[in-house]
Amino acid sequence: MILRKKLIAGNWKMNKTGAEALALVQEIATAIGKQPDVEVVICPPFTALASVAPVLDGTLLKLGAQNMHPEAGGAFTGEISAPMLRSFFATHVILGHSERRAYFGETDTFINQKVLSALKNQLRPILCVGETLAERESGSTLKVVQTQTEKGLEGVSKEQAASLIVAYEPVWAIGTGKVATTEQAQEVHAFIRDLLTKLFGEAIAQKVRILYGGSMKPANAPELLAQKDIDGGLIGGAALEARSFIELVKAAAAAK
Ligand code: 13P
Repeated sequence: MILRKKLIAGNWKMNKTGAEALALVQEIATAIGKQPDVEVVICPPFTALASVAPVLDGTLLKLGAQNMHPEAGGAFTGEISAPMLRSFFATHVILGHSERRAYFGETDTFINQKVLSALKNQLRPILCVGETLAERESGSTLKVVQTQTEKGLEGVSKEQAASLIVAYEPVWAIGTGKVATTEQAQEVHAFIRDLLTKLFGEAIAQKVRILYGGSMKPANAPELLAQKDIDGGLIGGAALEARSFIELVKAAAAAK
């Protein structure tokens, strides 16, 4: 019997001003603020954390950021640290998103430093891993996912590992409307679970939520969320509109 609670996280990427974020979060909170069966995390841009945080207070919705710097403070112009995120009551942080890897040159080593820093500061990392189309076509999907997972989690203790979240996001499925088939997704999710078992033992690996991300929409979510190792979704486009995001939370509640 698997007791993992499904998790739906909205990654808003570089969208929504503070005022727009407030309006969207109010709509979401009204509809699903007390939904106990699914964990829901909203990850707006840094600039909207302050306006959104008070609305989430008193609801079951949690606040996440999309990135952070591993150092707690210092001369890192333009960066945001874990303690700063905590000061806005953020509980989660997306790390190693493929857009950060591709456009900002983030390496597994740098992402690993962020993971360790997040854990040290009581933030739950949502570590993103996933292959490009070329990597899938050349048959190296599992190898890429293995490297990103193992290197991203280097030095994480068993105790810390219990609060990890991993997101499998095939790069070719992000923002393209091309969703992975349930078989493709489940295969990689089960592979990640095996890796976690090797790293942290069976009991912890069974607790870690592994989310799917990449063109997840209300229409394809039920089938994906019914898979044994798919514990939720990391949602981009469909998280920018209250109706579709709420539908996704409902799909996760129905799949539990
Ligand atoms: P889309 O849902 O827009 O494909 O984005 C997925 C994603 O990158 C979430 O982090």
